[in-house]
Amino acid sequence: MPEDTLTITDNRTGKSYTVPLFKGAVRAMDLRQIKTGPDDFGVMSYDPAFMNTASCQSAITFIDGDKGILRYRGYPIEELAEKCTFLEVAYLILFGELPTESELREWVDKVTHHTMIHENIKKFMDGFHHDAHPMGMFVSTIAALSTFYPDAKNIHDRHSRHLQILRLVGKVPTIAAYAYRHSLGLPYVYPDNSLSYTENFMSMLWKMPAEPKYEPNPVLARALDILFILHADHEQNCSANAMRSVGSAHADPYVATAAAAAALSGPLHGGANEAVLRMLDEIGSVDNVPAYIEKVKAGHVRLMGFGHRIYKNYDPRARIIKQTADEVFKVTGRNPKLDIALELERIALQDEYFVSRKLYPNVDFYSGIIYQAMGFTPDMFTVLFAIPRTVGWLAQWQEMLEDPEQKIARPRQIYIGHGLRHFVPMKDRTGREVPETQKV
Ligand code: ACO
Repeated sequence: MPEDTLTITDNRTGKSYTVPLFKGAVRAMDLRQIKTGPDDFGVMSYDPAFMNTASCQSAITFIDGDKGILRYRGYPIEELAEKCTFLEVAYLILFGELPTESELREWVDKVTHHTMIHENIKKFMDGFHHDAHPMGMFVSTIAALSTFYPDAKNIHDRHSRHLQILRLVGKVPTIAAYAYRHSLGLPYVYPDNSLSYTENFMSMLWKMPAEPKYEPNPVLARALDILFILHADHEQNCSANAMRSVGSAHADPYVATAAAAAALSGPLHGGANEAVLRMLDEIGSVDNVPAYIEKVKAGHVRLMGFGHRIYKNYDPRARIIKQTADEVFKVTGRNPKLDIALELERIALQDEYFVSRKLYPNVDFYSGIIYQAMGFTPDMFTVLFAIPRTVGWLAQWQEMLEDPEQKIARPRQIYIGHGLRHFVPMKDRTGREVPETQKV
């Protein structure tokens, strides 16, 4: 019998089945042959929240969560963060290889020439309430792009796909910056093609109408570039899964990206960086850290920015962000919240509760502190995450479309509701006792 197989004995029937192992995994469809009789549907796998289910094969990002390793297309995140620009890494993630000099020049030039947004999108953004959350504006505006680019529905046309990728990578910083300016009541700033991707983003955020040209601080622009590199992709996370799932229905990339961004906005995912800052505000000072840790251990609150589904070791991105913070604080001055964060980390890393559950700081634990020192308000943090992650979503989307094994994503369920029952007329309905857990 070949070694890379599993033998399963069905104790209901006594029958044995040999199923192949595919790259160390059982194909769930191979379980379907295990039946008690011809009317039996066959065995399914049951895996709420995909705790142990691979939904695809992917060549984009490699993570070893136990060892704390993250690589894009095989390259360690530490090397990319040190040596590359964000757009160089974006090219690598999207197209599989680091660009040559001329490929990079052409890519940067094309992205730069797609940074403008249609004037009607500006008007669309004007319609948001003055205190609209920037992430809500971001999600809705990305979705609205679908109505401006109807050609995007040609998802099987490689040229069309490439054009939408250029548009999205080019326009997300502009939309993010406009959401920010809108929330402050400031006029929008058009992109400046003479600046780099992150410098231009900073100009659109912070240039004042009276200034002829925005002079970005090079240290802050580089820090933002590094943060963008660290956030660019993270394999099959919640938002990438949303992108693939919506994209699998052959929806266009704008609405699929909007769906992914919506998933990112949740506090258990990209919304955590905002939640970390609010938590640090609530703690207030280093003296209050031990009491807060006790609240976490009692299960009253979660320590935001800690823990990860995949990393059961220090998140390598958090380590790089900590180094970047030092550079940023030399320019902006030290964010006093850093002391609270460092104390939280110090206590948590030696406390049995966190050690036994392998809870370490994740990417969001320190990123918010840097963003705040740079002048961002917490409600912008998740938008800052969404800009670079758009690259990852698009790479995952493209890979999904080119994968012949993929179909519309449609999980099975185990039905636990009523069996057949017949309609009861209103006059005969007696009502029911509502259990305490269902009362509203
Ligand atoms: N604080 C306190 N306890 C925690 C935390 C936390 N941040 N995270 C997990 N735990 C505990 C759980 O209570 C659970 O304990 P138990 O076994 O006694 O019940 C155990 O650790 C396992 O936690 P799960 O929720 O089962 O782990 P899961 O893999 O489902 O969750 C998640 C991962 C959602 C990231 C979780 O760690 C969390 O909520 N962290 C805080 C939010 C956060 O920082 N999210 C950002 C993630 S990174 C990203 O998306 C970019």
